[in-house]
Amino acid sequence: MKKISKLHFHFSLFIIFFFVFIGSSSSSSEEEIYDSSNGGLTDAEVRYIRHRQLLYYRDEFGDRGENVSVDPSLVFENPRLKNAYIALQAWKQAIFSDPSNLTGNWVGSDVCSYKCVFCSPALDDPTIRTVAGIDLNHGDIAGYLPEELGLLVDLALFHINSNRFCGTVPRKFVKLKLLFELDLSNNRFAGKFPEVVLRLPSLKFLDIRFNEFEGKIPKELFDKDLDAIFINHNRFAFDLPDNLGNSPVSVIVLANNKFHGCVPASLGNMSETLNEVILMNNGFRSCFPAEIGLLKNLTVLDMSFNELMGPLPEEVGGMVSLEQFNVAHNMLSGKIPASICSLPNLDNFTFSYNFFTGEPPVCLNLPGFNDRRNCLPARPAQRSPPPPSLPPPSPPPVHYESPPPPSPLPPIHYHSPPPPPVPCENPPPPVYGSPPPPAPVYEGPLPPVVGISYASPPPPPFY
Ligand SMILES: *[C@@H]1O[C@H](CO)[C@@H](O)[C@H](O)[C@H]1NC(C)=O
Ligand SMILES: *[C@@H]1O[C@H](CO)[C@@H](O)[C@H](O)[C@H]1NC(C)=O
Ligand SMILES: *[C@@H]1O[C@H](CO)[C@@H](O)[C@H](O)[C@H]1NC(C)=O
Ligand SMILES: *[C@@H]1O[C@H](CO)[C@@H](O)[C@H](O)[C@H]1NC(C)=O
Ligand SMILES: *[C@@H]1O[C@H](CO)[C@@H](O)[C@H](O)[C@H]1NC(C)=O
Repeated sequence: MKKISKLHFHFSLFIIFFFVFIGSSSSSSEEEIYDSSNGGLTDAEVRYIRHRQLLYYRDEFGDRGENVSVDPSLVFENPRLKNAYIALQAWKQAIFSDPSNLTGNWVGSDVCSYKCVFCSPALDDPTIRTVAGIDLNHGDIAGYLPEELGLLVDLALFHINSNRFCGTVPRKFVKLKLLFELDLSNNRFAGKFPEVVLRLPSLKFLDIRFNEFEGKIPKELFDKDLDAIFINHNRFAFDLPDNLGNSPVSVIVLANNKFHGCVPASLGNMSETLNEVILMNNGFRSCFPAEIGLLKNLTVLDMSFNELMGPLPEEVGGMVSLEQFNVAHNMLSGKIPASICSLPNLDNFTFSYNFFTGEPPVCLNLPGFNDRRNCLPARPAQRSPPPPSLPPPSPPPVHYESPPPPSPLPPIHYHSPPPPPVPCENPPPPVYGSPPPPAPVYEGPLPPVVGISYASPPPPPFY
């Protein structure tokens, strides 16, 4: 017992050292730690920590960096590749575990030959090559992003989906003026929304889902000229702001956070562009805005597992492109408008676990529907005992606490080629600022968004 608690004590010190004293050069804290002769750390580990303390520093924003020195004998094709070398060497030092050895050949001045790093002619000077893309998807790498990555000023793609990166996004990312796709999904990033992404003028695809970001979403996110926002499976807690409707995205996925309040009526302003909206498993309450009927191009709308109340507005029947509609597990009541079930493209209308009292016959002819656990006379599997009238007896459970496991997350590829089985073997060509097709995310060979079910693992592709 004693041994265990001692070990625990030293482990705590180790952690404290790592997260509190890094970057401070206080010698007293150093002694406190190193004076203990064993403490469960091997000499090699102690040397490693000491070494790292010498290397770490923090930039003017407090972001972590590494102290890379460039061997004067190295020859670089151009100064930007030299900067890329510094950035990538710093990153390599900030990586604690690389089980697939993806960064193993990140050695020497020829950074364009580094695995998972892609070079292209510079946009402003086609006579030189620069680093235009990094794709470490599915690397299972543990580490953090050092501020030196801000040196990769020509970067258009940054994909590190499905790794174990922690910490946050360095503020020096603001220098990545050409960054077009940022995919940080399925990592261990935490803390506040990475506001630096709001200052990336070329950014179109923002994917930070399956992390541990928390707190509010800055309103400005919705004023930004993005094509896709994936922020699902984090810990954001927020009322959606009224300027939501300013967003020109074709896809927005907010699922599995703790958004609450109303769905803003301004959603209706997104009719020109909006194709898919996933708001499931948050805490949205009442207010199913009638303006939603203006969304003529919307094909997927999932508002399941919220706390929506009242009737479905007749106007929902205006969403002429709607194919998948899910409002299951809410507190909706009243009669289902026939206009909804008459929508020409509707394939699947799921409204189980509500308190609906009327269902027009046309709903029973849909290719897919689920009306279980409502208050529908003469339909099977309704709530029992069927109450003669509303209000609902008790709210259905809201499933914040038990989200499905976040992995395995299917690969995300905004451009068509399917994912290579081994990271980096078949890299996507880095694409600079080429204008995105209208709704690139769900087109092509990607799996269709059907059968959305959060109740059962594995998680579906895009949520
Ligand atoms: C980097 O290391 C050099 C010598 O090793 C040192 O002089 C310099 O101050 C360090 N820079 C930072 C930012 O820590
Ligand atoms: C990692 O890759 C480098 C270069 O490709 C190679 O030299 C090294 O032996 C590899 N390490 C392991 C553990 O496979
Ligand atoms: C956006 O929607 C709101 C609420 O429906 C409306 O008052 C506003 O005029 C709309 N703005 C634009 C620019 O269409
Ligand atoms: C929206 O739908 C209309 C007609 O259904 C179509 O002509 C238009 O191209 C669509 N817009 C987008 C951005 O998908
Ligand atoms: C309809 O959608 C629900 C929820 O997304 C899903 O569980 C169900 O399997 C789908 N039904 C059909 C027939 O596709």
